[in-house]
Amino acid sequence: MQDIPVEQLTEAQASQELQRLASILAAADIAYHQKDAPEISDAEYDALKRRNAAIEAKFPDLKLPDSPSEKVGAPVASGFGKVTHAVAMLSLSNAFSDEDVYDFDERVRKFLGITGQVAYTAEPKIDGLSLSLRYENGRLVQAATRGDGEVGENVTANALTIGDIPAEIGGAPSVLEVRGEVYMSHDDFAALNERQSASGGKTFANPRNAAAGSLRQLDATITKTRPLRFFAYAWGEVSEPLADTQFGAIARLASLGFQTNPLTRLCDGPADMIAHYTSIERQRATLGYDIDGVVYKVNDLTLQGRLGFRSNNPRWATAHKFPAEIATTQLEDIEIQVGRTGALSPVARLKPVTVGGVVVSNATLHNEDYIAGRDSNGTPIRDGRDIRIGDWVSVYRAGDVIPKIKDVDLSRRPADAKPYSFPTQCPICGSDAIREPGEAVARCTGGLICPAQAVEKLKHFVSRSAFDIEGLGAKQVEAFYTEGWVKEPADIFTLAKNHGDELKTREGWGEKSVTNLFAAIEERRTIPLNRLIFALGIRHVGETAAMLLARRYNSWETFHANMEAARDHRGPDWEALNDIDGVGEVMAASLVDYFHEAQARAALERLVSELDVTDVAAPATDGSPVVGKTVVFTGTLEKMTRAEAKARAEALGAKVSGSVSAKTDIVVAGPGAGSKLKKAEELGVDVMDEDAWLALIG
Ligand code: IVH
Repeated sequence: MQDIPVEQLTEAQASQELQRLASILAAADIAYHQKDAPEISDAEYDALKRRNAAIEAKFPDLKLPDSPSEKVGAPVASGFGKVTHAVAMLSLSNAFSDEDVYDFDERVRKFLGITGQVAYTAEPKIDGLSLSLRYENGRLVQAATRGDGEVGENVTANALTIGDIPAEIGGAPSVLEVRGEVYMSHDDFAALNERQSASGGKTFANPRNAAAGSLRQLDATITKTRPLRFFAYAWGEVSEPLADTQFGAIARLASLGFQTNPLTRLCDGPADMIAHYTSIERQRATLGYDIDGVVYKVNDLTLQGRLGFRSNNPRWATAHKFPAEIATTQLEDIEIQVGRTGALSPVARLKPVTVGGVVVSNATLHNEDYIAGRDSNGTPIRDGRDIRIGDWVSVYRAGDVIPKIKDVDLSRRPADAKPYSFPTQCPICGSDAIREPGEAVARCTGGLICPAQAVEKLKHFVSRSAFDIEGLGAKQVEAFYTEGWVKEPADIFTLAKNHGDELKTREGWGEKSVTNLFAAIEERRTIPLNRLIFALGIRHVGETAAMLLARRYNSWETFHANMEAARDHRGPDWEALNDIDGVGEVMAASLVDYFHEAQARAALERLVSELDVTDVAAPATDGSPVVGKTVVFTGTLEKMTRAEAKARAEALGAKVSGSVSAKTDIVVAGPGAGSKLKKAEELGVDVMDEDAWLALIG
């Protein structure tokens, strides 16, 4: 039935098909909203919805009383409490080749100015989900998932059901946050799925999903029946150091009663690390649990401290990933998606195929050039082989990201396959799609009249790192947009006033879920500056940049005024913006142009009048003697490298500049300092040597 085109369905078939679609869509809603485990892709969901709507349009009398087309998603599960991590839970940078491992070691030694060897630990990267366990005076007081790294979910009751997690430990520091991975073994996973299918319950796609689904049960008695395990490999807040080295700290965690990975080794450099990686890779199939790479960490904890962090990753660790698995399948179609900035992204629709335990039916095709077999400079990729509908292609998945196409098999190309011609019009609104010179992507010129752009902007606005409104996800935003209730972000905050009563009458929305939704929206009226900046979806301004901007300008008023003042791309405010470490000229231009554009400004004004934007403090620099000062390093530094000096100064709230001007506060001059030192003396800037600088910053 599902294969019969809508135009050919008889009335009886249509009636049956509507029933079938209603039940699939209802199950998909629950899987997506309540179980956190989508069973079908967004694209499949959309296709089913479209088919449902098309049948209803052809046979209006058959429309079911609780038709899926009337539903706006399912109410969210009431959820866990939120926990703000005392020390952020970061992710790791990746290495994909031996060369990347040598580069990592090189970066570490260069940053520290060490010419000799640095020792590292190497251990399996467990493919589960990370968990932070907080012990106070030896008792487990809180267990939290990673969440967005800053705020996770409180799963204490669930964690206490896991055998590997002690409720009490003896001889530990009074505050100790143990971090590690919750996972499920292959045998336990298979047995769980067997039990689940025997009892008609839901089965899981892989051990990682099973572990995540089991830990995130609102009812901890269910978690208790699930065979979860835990490996400790790191720590968060500690009231006293666990050891002097990473290796020692892990041994200490083992002595406190935690499981630590038996394949953890101490290595004396990249060659040794790669040898251990190869050995772990050989044992991978017989370990009995999933791993997806090897993690290297600088062993000396003092060096770890000096290396510190870069935005989201520690400089002292990296994950050496195993190569992705590859499968072959046929390309059935190429669809064009329009993103929030109007970019036309080609997506491959594939005959479903299993890659590394997950069924894949979509893959990214990047852009026009990628399909044509060249990179953005015109250099051939895949030896210049283009990709055509009907082709047999090899697909791979690396981590959680969208699957990618590796190559195309020309020997299996259908005789009638034609080169793909990339659209010159937006498939959604019909506006011209233009590819600017030097740009890799074509963009729809429809701006806010393009429904795809408007909806994608709204989806971004409510996404996890932006406003993160509970119960208002992509699906709901889409439905509210279609209703005409939410056309721009400001409308979210007037939804209760303008459409609250209507919403209550909608299928799938009871009194309670509507009340919950409006409460969640109210909660987000107060929003930190960085989240607001990120939520605006300005091109080139990601989460990290939004945080840098918020820390630099602190308040919405200052930020806004500065962006407006910089609108001519020159003058002191423009320069100040460009001076932020991590803000380049392209991003700066994108930002100030956004604030200059009349429509965006009007929408922004409407939004901000609904909000209470909270200030973001500059990085904690309590008692720092150099906060806000502009510092220039010149000449040779003897106690640390330039990179380390800069990172430390910035961590203390100073701004490090490359040139001396009247705005410079301090010049740190080492041996061999030349013109900069001279200029500083002429301008009467404070000059000191490296020792004096170190004494100043303590
Ligand atoms: S160390 C500051 N060690 O990988 C870095 N992470 O991409 C702390 N993971 O979120 C992480 N095995 O969930 C570390 N042996 C291991 C790991 C490991 C798995 C996960 C962890 C983390 C992610 C980072």
